[in-house]
Amino acid sequence: MLYSEKVMDHFRNPRNLGTMEDADAVGEVGNAKCGDIMRIYLKIKDDIITDVKFITFGCGSAIASSSMATEMIKGKPVSEALQLSNKAVVEALEGLPAHKLHCSVLAEEAVKAAVKDYYDKNGIAYDKEQFKQGPTCACGDH
Ligand code: FES
Repeated sequence: MLYSEKVMDHFRNPRNLGTMEDADAVGEVGNAKCGDIMRIYLKIKDDIITDVKFITFGCGSAIASSSMATEMIKGKPVSEALQLSNKAVVEALEGLPAHKLHCSVLAEEAVKAAVKDYYDKNGIAYDKEQFKQGPTCACGDH
């Protein structure tokens, strides 16, 4: 089978799907290659992510990846969300086909973009290196 049960589950029943009116931070990223777009909204209180929402104009793997990513950062400190890697998302999804790995990179980058937005809005200093987009995935697109 091409997709794991976990991927199919999160694709069919995405967690935290939707927008957020009063978000404290928003991150949006696009994949230059496929044109897909992902947006992540964060509600943050005392440095803890109390709520997360996402919308993805993208493929099923992007939907499953963002759904899983929102579950993984909900209730966590902002600094921990920043450490979320696409590899961790893929592991939690019990794998993605190789040509779909870049879809999980989109989830990692959207979370990072939202955290950056939070830091920028609140004048919190950060190491710019943490937000450098580098070759993080094996698909050859990044
Ligand atoms: Fe574009 Fe999956 S094909 S994010």
